[in-house]
Amino acid sequence: MNDLDQLVLDAQTDFAKAPTPAELENAKARYLGKAGRVTELLKALGALTAEEKKSRGALINAAKQQVESALNARRHALAEAELEQQLKSEALDVTLPGRRRGEGAVHPVIRTMERIEQIFGSMGFDIADGPEIETDWYNFTALNSPENHPARSMQDTFYVDAKDAEGRWLNLRTHTSPMQIRYARAHAKKYASAARMPDIRVIAPGRTYRVDSDATHSPMFHQVEGLWVGENVSFKDLKVMYLDFIQAFFETTELQLRFRPSYFPFTEPSAEIDIMFEHGPLAGKWLEVSGSGQVHPQVIRNMGLDPERFIGFAFGSGIDRLAMLRYGISDLRLFFDGDLRFLSQFK
Ligand code: DAH
Repeated sequence: MNDLDQLVLDAQTDFAKAPTPAELENAKARYLGKAGRVTELLKALGALTAEEKKSRGALINAAKQQVESALNARRHALAEAELEQQLKSEALDVTLPGRRRGEGAVHPVIRTMERIEQIFGSMGFDIADGPEIETDWYNFTALNSPENHPARSMQDTFYVDAKDAEGRWLNLRTHTSPMQIRYARAHAKKYASAARMPDIRVIAPGRTYRVDSDATHSPMFHQVEGLWVGENVSFKDLKVMYLDFIQAFFETTELQLRFRPSYFPFTEPSAEIDIMFEHGPLAGKWLEVSGSGQVHPQVIRNMGLDPERFIGFAFGSGIDRLAMLRYGISDLRLFFDGDLRFLSQFK
């Protein structure tokens, strides 16, 4: 092997060993750089005769071309490898399943509320809502619970750091009953100049608050208030109407209703409404679902109506309770924990 063949072989080996473009350029310098081996050979031509120069020069040039083509081949290979590497690291696996948008659903308590609205709506009741932050007057006094009356302590609640026009602390309403007053007053005002006032028939579902927390009580819960006031309304109407409602709600006529004497300041007489299923897992047990009663004359007066002329009844039912019975849920707190494993069953 002559010196030029050796040189080409060395260059090819060196280039092949260069692992990166930068190192390849260093290797290139050793052959083709200013002091590289090929350059040195060309410089040495100066000492030869014209004849020798010609033949030796041609051989060196041929060798130089081989070195250059080895260099280019390696450059190309390194660039390819780099591209390959980059493609691999930036690869996008388009076969991965996409992220689905979560499917939402109406909360079971809200769904129950809508169901109640739908049933009472079909029975001709208006649907109203009102503020969750109440004044002392609407929440207690107008409902015949005067200040310092012991019945107030049954409904301990949360107070807001603000006072009403009378200088009393605002509270989070302890029941939906203040809506009886709010709605009736607006209704009475609307028909004040009419010869005859149409009956007040309204339900008011919504959030209510009390200082209470266990498996069947939550500091925030839901009630639906019902009110029917007119010149000729009786307890009989309450019983018929509530039975219709409860049968529609539970989709069965095979249940019984009973009125159990009770006390509420805003009704006289007052009763708890209990129901009993004839079949199913709860069969044979009386379950309390609502308070009710004939609206107290003082409350009728606070509605802006004459108790000698107007009479009516009211009820207040626990919506969460109704939802628990309907869906067979034993712990009220499940509704408000926000656990999607529980909630997604109601989709
Ligand atoms: N407001 C009562 C409560 O929260 C429930 C109630 C009882 C409402 C009797 C009424 C009623 O309208 O007549 O405990």
